[in-house]
Amino acid sequence: MDAFRIVGGHPLRGTVRISGSKNAALPILFSSLLGGEFTLANVPCLRDIRTTLSLLRQLGIHTERHDPQDGSSHTPATPEDWNGIFTLSDRDTPDYEAPYDLVRTMRASVLCLGPLLARKRRARVSLPGGCLIGARPIDMHLRAFEKMGARITIHHGYIDAETDGLRGTEIALPYPTVTGTENILMAAVLARGTTTISNAAEEPEVTDLARFLTARGARIEGAGTSTIRIEGVAELHTADYATMFDRIEAGTFLVAAALLGDRVTIEGIDPTPLRPILDVLRAMGAEPHIEDSSMTMGVIPHPVGTTVRTLPHPGFPTDMQAQILPLMAIAHGSSSVIETVFENRFTHVMEMNRMGAAIEIHGSQAMVRGESRLEGATVMASDLRASAGLVLAGLVAEGETEIKRVYHIDRGYEAIEKKLESLGARIKRVQEDQP
Ligand code: EPZ
Repeated sequence: MDAFRIVGGHPLRGTVRISGSKNAALPILFSSLLGGEFTLANVPCLRDIRTTLSLLRQLGIHTERHDPQDGSSHTPATPEDWNGIFTLSDRDTPDYEAPYDLVRTMRASVLCLGPLLARKRRARVSLPGGCLIGARPIDMHLRAFEKMGARITIHHGYIDAETDGLRGTEIALPYPTVTGTENILMAAVLARGTTTISNAAEEPEVTDLARFLTARGARIEGAGTSTIRIEGVAELHTADYATMFDRIEAGTFLVAAALLGDRVTIEGIDPTPLRPILDVLRAMGAEPHIEDSSMTMGVIPHPVGTTVRTLPHPGFPTDMQAQILPLMAIAHGSSSVIETVFENRFTHVMEMNRMGAAIEIHGSQAMVRGESRLEGATVMASDLRASAGLVLAGLVAEGETEIKRVYHIDRGYEAIEKKLESLGARIKRVQEDQP
């Protein structure tokens, strides 16, 4: 298995381009199951994207990557020759099952439920088990589909859903679930009548999906607010679109700059979705220089501790919680992070404490004593964002850090070690236990 080997303490300088958003690309790719054809650009080269394309092919979608060289449609594994432009077209096959062996590797596979019900009126999807960060049930998705006219049973670990045709209705979400909102949105665009989702997720990735579906002829109002209204249409027409940038990757590089930046510029971004992250970095002493599609930041000379509560957008994103901790660990004064979204999202803390951080967990709150001197150590990545937090800790730690099981990070970051290396970081991808 791959590992990262990092020698900490090297200042970062230069420019990195932020990749397309995993969490925007996934629902847009799954929306191909609503029928027709479209071309999507700025698709990041990630394991979860390849998993999604493989599942969609099993569900009857033809996926073709635009390759400027040979026009082949094979899906390469490395960003160098990825060229993230894909055309997806629905071949209208009768397939409607998302098997366990794919769903267990990527819980976002549940995003095939809404579009399959809307178009094929059938769906059989393996229940996504819990994961390290929490139980992550999908009850809100299923209740909403039942309200839209789906009959749902669960047997042998599979969700069996069918309908005589989805119909629009009023849906009040108990919690602004991101993929729940996206699933219902996709189901509603082809439903008969009008659907209103209240307490909808306001994440920028939901807005990106709605913008894309609108470009294909869907009738959607209110995306990005807590109330979304969808008027069903008979079918969608083709469109060319490009996913938004990955705001969590951008936030990760901003924290790297705050830790070690001589002068780091991130480009290919829109500052607006980054505001919740910038507010916290500014509270700690950051002074970002913001342009229309780029941002430049240097190290915070004397970072000060702060209090953060993770919340649905426009709150501070839970996906940035692990990444802000190393900055808090070295800041002056104490900090605290209250994790309100997931019930078990502090697994990275034990590993950071082995690097010299002083973080105590009390229920959903992490209390961070500042002014720690982080030291390199051998640590284990446990999930996608925890891995990013450990990389940041390794970059600022004194000495060498080895992070094992970095396959987690490949799920959501496009060649992060190459981007960091281009900024001057001493980071290499090695085989575990390679001398
Ligand atoms: C999305 O997950 C993201 N994934 C996650 O990013 C992100 O952490 C999360 O939203 C929160 O922002 C994708 O977009 C693919 P939720 P999702 O439904 O939709 C509970 C990453 O690193 N809940 O908003 O699964 C749930 O248990 C990933 O890219 C129910 O109880 O998150 C959780 O406590 C990690 N019942 C809370 O709501 C439901 O039916 C938020 O979950 C649905 C959710």
